[in-house]
Amino acid sequence: MTQSARVVAQAKINLLLRILAREASGYHSLETVFLRLDLGDDVRVRITAGRSLDCAGPAVPAEGLGPIERNLAFRAAGAYANAVGWPSGFAIEINKRIPVGGGLGGGSADAGAVLRVLDAMSPTPLGQDLPALAAELGSDVPFLTAEHGMALAWSRGERMLALPALEARPTVLAIPPISIWTSEAYGWLAQDRGGYTPAPRAYTLADFASWERAVAAARNDFQPVVARHRPQVAELVDEIAAAGAELSMLSGSGSTVFGIFREAPDAAQITRSIGCTTLVTSTSTRVVSVELDE
Ligand code: C5P
Repeated sequence: MTQSARVVAQAKINLLLRILAREASGYHSLETVFLRLDLGDDVRVRITAGRSLDCAGPAVPAEGLGPIERNLAFRAAGAYANAVGWPSGFAIEINKRIPVGGGLGGGSADAGAVLRVLDAMSPTPLGQDLPALAAELGSDVPFLTAEHGMALAWSRGERMLALPALEARPTVLAIPPISIWTSEAYGWLAQDRGGYTPAPRAYTLADFASWERAVAAARNDFQPVVARHRPQVAELVDEIAAAGAELSMLSGSGSTVFGIFREAPDAAQITRSIGCTTLVTSTSTRVVSVELDE
């Protein structure tokens, strides 16, 4: 049996992020469109005795990534082992390139990658049941576990409709030097809404069938409240739009702002004008496949 495999854990952006009712669990139901990026972490899992996680790479923050037991990739492997009864031990190695805590789904992508890699090596794969396990780890994890380049998703992210991926577009990620906790962003939104809860909108495939339509339908419920509490985010959205992006929007609950361009922009010029870290990547039309090591 293969004892080791790897995959690129691609980051995501949300072209649509609507936050609906708060459920009894305390979590909110979502209506969202996920799209994968080329930017990704390298994730490798080996079947071993013992359980370990090693993270290195340019996106590991100076203060580290916190306790291993709280790490989503480590928890994903534990959840898989509990659900399947295999493996008893695993060694996870991650080379991190996705900025941490920026709304690009980095931790969730790593968790999704671990689940895909384990299921590819497993003596009893979960296959179609993998997204349900993934949903217990967070609302971005089912999409990042599934093999869709782009999808409309509802509920806690486990109900998905695959969308034909839009052609690849150059994408600028502007990463301001501020972190926004997901729980903090939900708190601001709840405060802003009072008791109001928006209804689902019944989006269809047609709403995201071209970039033109996707740009018209794009919205992120967090953006106005986050922009009010963190004005730097509002400035970045305007600056990226002024640099020629056809869509400039907050990613997830922030703090990264993404810009989708028709033509590759002058990244050095954008970095100079906005004065914060930028990464240039592309939206992706494919899901990178798991590679089994010999
Ligand atoms: O998924 P994660 O644990 O990062 O979420 C952090 C917090 O954000 C949750 O404790 C919850 O308050 C809020 N949240 C939510 N609905 C979601 C996802 C997160 O209310 N779908």
